[in-house]
Amino acid sequence: MGQRLHIRTKVIVVDPVHPEPTIIERAAKLLSDGEIVVFPTETVYGLGADAFQLAALERIFAAKGRPFSDPLIVHIADESALELLTTTVPEQAERLVQKFWPGPLTLILPRGPRVPRMVTAGLETVAIRMPRHPVALALIRALASPIAAPSANRFMHVSPTTAQHALADLAGRVPLILDAGLCEIGVESTVLDLCSEVPRILRPGGVGLEALRSVLPDVQPPIHRKVVGEREEFVAEKAPGQLLTHYAPTIPLLLFDGTVEAMQASMLAELRRRGMRGERVGVLVADEDMPVFRDSGALIQSLGSANDPAGVAASLFASLRALEETQVQVILCRNFGDQGLGLAIRDRLLKAAGGQVFGQ
Ligand code: TXA
Ligand code: MG
Repeated sequence: MGQRLHIRTKVIVVDPVHPEPTIIERAAKLLSDGEIVVFPTETVYGLGADAFQLAALERIFAAKGRPFSDPLIVHIADESALELLTTTVPEQAERLVQKFWPGPLTLILPRGPRVPRMVTAGLETVAIRMPRHPVALALIRALASPIAAPSANRFMHVSPTTAQHALADLAGRVPLILDAGLCEIGVESTVLDLCSEVPRILRPGGVGLEALRSVLPDVQPPIHRKVVGEREEFVAEKAPGQLLTHYAPTIPLLLFDGTVEAMQASMLAELRRRGMRGERVGVLVADEDMPVFRDSGALIQSLGSANDPAGVAASLFASLRALEETQVQVILCRNFGDQGLGLAIRDRLLKAAGGQVFGQ
């Protein structure tokens, strides 16, 4: 599969609440002609193609540099589209759909016979989600077909929460990026497997475990993997593409655990050690940590208050990308707990850290 020669990437600003019909039509025309388009969702920007056009799907993988073994999420705008994509809608799914769609929840359901295997990476299941971003919904409706879309970043890079992030990764590889500003949630959707014996979260995301359990009390948390010394534990995983280093920033990131005081102390100690070696260090912290690091010589990036997981999630990926633009050689990062969106934040940080945690 060859990468196309450099194509011109156009960025068009679109109203996030009342998207201009002419702009939506233009993007939908590209999609129906077999092209790929970057569009906003409430979680992160997606790189979309008509889910039923094989050549268009291939372009997604080529543009991202993504292996075909990693399946795609199919985005729909109306529940009736479920019939096209799956054989059965279990009662559990119906209850979740009532409560969380449109929104940041992806359901793994049995694959309908018409769904291309390129979408599901050969699996007999398919990932489906109904986003709530008005631009995404308008685009799916204008195309009159479901849109398969991964996050609009290069493979292994951090997901984009602005059009500029998508442009940085995909310039010359996509004809059009729809720019609706910052994504509201900032981490990807929760992927929930409804094809296993008990419903299990495969990827924590925009809908928290507690919220899912309010509808289905037996929802299981994701199987955690971590690196203990040199060993990686619990490697077996049902979701393909859930690589431990999936969200690797280009600078090494060290994740710290423990009580706030212990965490700050071990971060400061590590900072001093590295400072003495002449390393330039960045710290990713909460507003509450700022006084501790103020005179430490580190480049400080705050994700907001530690008591506001939604705010932390919304600024996480942009902050990681901002640190990549600086001269720092390593990032020391605090943890933000595991309540609500905290679970998704921790998952992304753990992946950025290659599974390694300090201070446990
Ligand atoms: O918020 C989101 O979900 C964003 C926006 C664009 O919708 N999309 C997104 O797509 O994050 P992507 O491709 O970056 O991540 C999709 C995840 C992967 O971890 C993939 O392995 C999993 O969903 N997945 C897709 N189909 C699956 C299937 N049939 N079974 C298990 N996991 C699946
Ligand atoms: Mg992704």
